[in-house]
Amino acid sequence: MRVIFFIFLLIRGTHLSCQLWGKFSSSALAKDGDITFGGIFTLHYKGATPAVSYSAGPLNPGCVGFNLRAFRWAQGMIFAIEEINQDEYLLPNITLGYKIHDSCANPPEALRATLSLVNGEEDISILNSTCKDQSVAAVIGCSGSTQSITIARILGSFGIPQISYFSSCACLSDKHEFPTFFRTIPSDYFQVQAWVKVVKHFGWTWIGAFGSDDAYGHFGIQSFLEEIKKIDACIAFAEYFPAVYTKGKIQEHIELIKKSKAKVILVFATEIDMYILANELLKQNVTGIVWLASESWATAGLLSTKEMFGTLGGLLGLGIQRSSIKGIKDFLLRIHPADYPGNVYIKEFWETTFKYVSQLRITYNTYKAVYAIAHALHNVLFCENNTKVCHSVKEIEPWKVSTLCKVQFKVKTGDEIQFDHNGDPRPSYDIINWQLDVNGDVQYVDIGNFTLTKQELSDITTLDFIMEVITSSCSESCPPGTRKATREGEPICCFDCVPCAQDEISNSTDSIDCIRCPWNHWPNSMKNTCLPKAVEYLSFGEMMGIILSALGVAGACLTVFVAAVFFHFRSTPIVRANNSEISFLLLFSLLLCFLCSFLFIGEPSHWSCKLKHAAFGITFVLCISCVLGKTLVVIMAFKSTLPGHNIMKCFGPLQQRLKNTKYFKNRIIFECNLGSVAAFCFVLAFIGRKLPDNFNEAKYITFSMLIFCAVWITFIPAYLSSPGKYTVAVEVFAILSSSFGVLLCIFAPKCYIILLRPETNTKKHVMGRSTSSAKI
Ligand code: TRP
Repeated sequence: MRVIFFIFLLIRGTHLSCQLWGKFSSSALAKDGDITFGGIFTLHYKGATPAVSYSAGPLNPGCVGFNLRAFRWAQGMIFAIEEINQDEYLLPNITLGYKIHDSCANPPEALRATLSLVNGEEDISILNSTCKDQSVAAVIGCSGSTQSITIARILGSFGIPQISYFSSCACLSDKHEFPTFFRTIPSDYFQVQAWVKVVKHFGWTWIGAFGSDDAYGHFGIQSFLEEIKKIDACIAFAEYFPAVYTKGKIQEHIELIKKSKAKVILVFATEIDMYILANELLKQNVTGIVWLASESWATAGLLSTKEMFGTLGGLLGLGIQRSSIKGIKDFLLRIHPADYPGNVYIKEFWETTFKYVSQLRITYNTYKAVYAIAHALHNVLFCENNTKVCHSVKEIEPWKVSTLCKVQFKVKTGDEIQFDHNGDPRPSYDIINWQLDVNGDVQYVDIGNFTLTKQELSDITTLDFIMEVITSSCSESCPPGTRKATREGEPICCFDCVPCAQDEISNSTDSIDCIRCPWNHWPNSMKNTCLPKAVEYLSFGEMMGIILSALGVAGACLTVFVAAVFFHFRSTPIVRANNSEISFLLLFSLLLCFLCSFLFIGEPSHWSCKLKHAAFGITFVLCISCVLGKTLVVIMAFKSTLPGHNIMKCFGPLQQRLKNTKYFKNRIIFECNLGSVAAFCFVLAFIGRKLPDNFNEAKYITFSMLIFCAVWITFIPAYLSSPGKYTVAVEVFAILSSSFGVLLCIFAPKCYIILLRPETNTKKHVMGRSTSSAKI
């Protein structure tokens, strides 16, 4: 800073002494010492910048609204300095002094304060050889991030250390931009993480946000918007409190709050900005909102009053680490209104000190800031920390104190202080809830806290607090049975609930998709679970199953009976004339056909499914081929009329059997069209239908084939149109009826002759060419 001073001198040319162009008049609190610490506090809420006239030099701004809280912070700094001055070990025999300025929450004002802290406030004569260095060793401040950023650029370029106790903007962690900036308040990077965790914990998805129109508000809200997206919550609105908060703008914000469905609103702002809005909310009686208070105003006495509780009551806030510093209460109470005769607020300060003295949070930060600088100084002056070179107080230059980043110490409260590579402390937050005590005063009740674990904030450790279930969402959640459908052009948190499609369900609330039920399940009427489909098959227990199996049994018995009759009368002409081997084979295949039908009834199993069609195919083809064999024999026998040319020799029982067996063995049978075999039989039988009556088996074969064809032709449409288990019943019915058809048509007439007309069972009758058909 002396550099600037000399430049002044050069410009001013001939003057031997130099005067400051402007003086910072508001240095309220100062004390001389060997080494001086500078402090910048928002002792007033607002600095009204005077109009620029160009006819006179710039005037000091009129600062308005005494800030009791900031006054206490400044007192915390003084307390720490006094405590160190008494300390035998820390900076022994060195008296620390202080110079505290007011920034009036205004960046230009903070800049003036800084220049006056580093340049001094006295005019200097260069003839004066004992030129006293007026610069402070370090600056403690500012409060607001915007002010801190402004002064950090100047302090950084001269290597003067700056420790802020309240500037929490994450932007200040950038060491390239702000090389000598340190702080005792955690970065908002962690505060935003903490808020996201709180929002997630309560399941809120539609959140409003307000912020101060400064670095703090903008950075805070922007990073909150980014982080909140990651947990699938959305921002209903994000607004900033303008520096000049007009009536119109306030009303606009109130309308926004009233209209919005967001019942949870995060405010990243200073207490004075929030105070203006909260006052209007109180007037208009806007209630029912859960306010999320950033660390700046969560513990601000200005807002936590009985009156405000009506609007802000139930609020959740984040408070930075607190502590009760031993002896500070007495120290603060020593500040007597009589010491500050002109200041009407000191009385108020005195009163409030009783109330909040156990809740020292920012005050504790200023206390820690002073200790941090003192330790860094101590290390430089007393060659500790392996610094070989020892310096005298005169040699102290601010940049040497920048070893702050290396200091690590314990304050009297027992807390360990250390800065990370960004110059930030370890984050730790309390979740605070405002509650009314018996006297009706607002109390800050800790209901949980966050600490740092592995570069991340831990989850809420304890939340011993049952909050009235307040939901804040853009759309009602979708019940099971429906799914979310986002509205075009709107945030993902605003959606409609669409019922699931016919065979789909959703079993959780707010599901994104409906899921299809497994093939053997179907959705219930609510569409929230899949019910197993009732298993339906043709069982032996039900009426139709009983009837069909009875028919099957009957058929099988009948076949066995016919076979027994034929076997018993095997020597009679009618049986012999009918080629008994083929007849028995036919009866056997019919028996199998009847038994086959049982494979279709009952619960289908893997094996029965595979077996039934194959078994039926084989037996059925066997049956048809027997019929075919029979027919061929009949035709051949009667078409070969030439005497002496006994073609029957070629179609004797042996050949017929051979042919059948061969046919049976031929596995191509499976691919054969059964219908065409049957049709072939039918055609052959039809050719032979006009053959002599008594021997005319062909007539019966034709008839049986007719039944057969009729059954299977009607089977096709019946099979295709019958639902569920009836298809199986139709199939079984077709098998049974066609088998009965063949059995009855071919064997019934013969059995009739054998059993009831044994007198006609003679060779003569059987061979009788002219006998009428009526005889059979
Ligand atoms: N924590 C806030 C910050 O980092 C505090 C703050 C914001 C503030 N704006 C302010 C404090 C104005 C005093 C004045 O900036």
